[in-house]
Amino acid sequence: MTGEAIVSQVDIHAPWGGVVPKLAQQAHADAMDSAVHTALSSASITPHDLSAIAVTIGPGLSLCLHVGVAKAHALCRAHALPLVPIHHMEAHALVARAFDPTIRFPFVCLLVSGGHNLLLLVHGVGQYTQLGTTLDDALGEAYDKVARLLGLPLAPSGGAALEQAALQGDAHRFALPLPLKRRVDCNFSYAGLKTAVRLLVEEQLGVGGGGGGGDGDAATKQDEDDQARRQTVADIAASFQHVAVQHLAQRTARGVQWAKEQAPSVDTLVVAGGVAANATVREQLQSVADASGVRLVCPPAKYCTDNGVMVAWAGVERYACIDY
Ligand code: KG4
Ligand code: ZN
Repeated sequence: MTGEAIVSQVDIHAPWGGVVPKLAQQAHADAMDSAVHTALSSASITPHDLSAIAVTIGPGLSLCLHVGVAKAHALCRAHALPLVPIHHMEAHALVARAFDPTIRFPFVCLLVSGGHNLLLLVHGVGQYTQLGTTLDDALGEAYDKVARLLGLPLAPSGGAALEQAALQGDAHRFALPLPLKRRVDCNFSYAGLKTAVRLLVEEQLGVGGGGGGGDGDAATKQDEDDQARRQTVADIAASFQHVAVQHLAQRTARGVQWAKEQAPSVDTLVVAGGVAANATVREQLQSVADASGVRLVCPPAKYCTDNGVMVAWAGVERYACIDY
């Protein structure tokens, strides 16, 4: 990798409690030219030095995707370059190979992001067998929703804030239901767990959730209430994370087993997507990998959450195997 640039718009959306499509489109348009310029100049190259341009075509917010695709088209036209269209999830799945060239096909890939929970057997570029997917919410989405219920900051992400809060919490204080206990497959479900957390938050913290303090009269009473409330928030965060990751680990263990039945040479489990930045997720999946006789590979945390390098790398992989 010779150069990169990343622009975040979390601060623009944070006051709204979620992504506002029109603001997102405008932020993309405002940042596009300078991000491309920074990436090229940090690599000390110009578009003349390129052999192709890779760009995400989906899935995602089409208003925003369009901004990137239009820029890529314009550059390709101006410099007579081929355009390599990239599927966002394929970029997450392949980026580990940029950092560890010893990862060979076939491998198992668990993709855990804000919009997707996918367990794949990756046979090659563009060749995937889906072993499992989410029946409702993705894990990142569940992290974000629970973070909001608990009144945690949503920047840089609800998931990162919940992970931090859980560090101070007791994961066994509240017993939450393990999803899909009786279904012997590799699918995931987080909607029921999220509802259980919502009810718990209402019971423990009141309908307003984790934000705000208690309403004791004396200052010391107020401090004690605030402290107890913060501890309850941390305990709920830790209890949610404990069950959510247990579910993830169980399904992944079965997925590796299924993958080995189909492709006995599988020796690697790649975990990618924004949630793969989470240390508890990594630890639990390391145990799954050890018990299943495969090695675990996670891209560096910075390349687990959305970034341009993963799209460029997927472009390199596609460019190498397709005649442009
Ligand atoms: O892959 P990504 O950057 O964007 C999508 O394609 O969705 O993933 C974003 C998701 C968000 O739901 C965010 O809360 C979650 O990844 N996330 C985390 C952590 N960092 C980001 N979830 C748990 N722990 C983290 N440390
Ligand atoms: Zn993503």
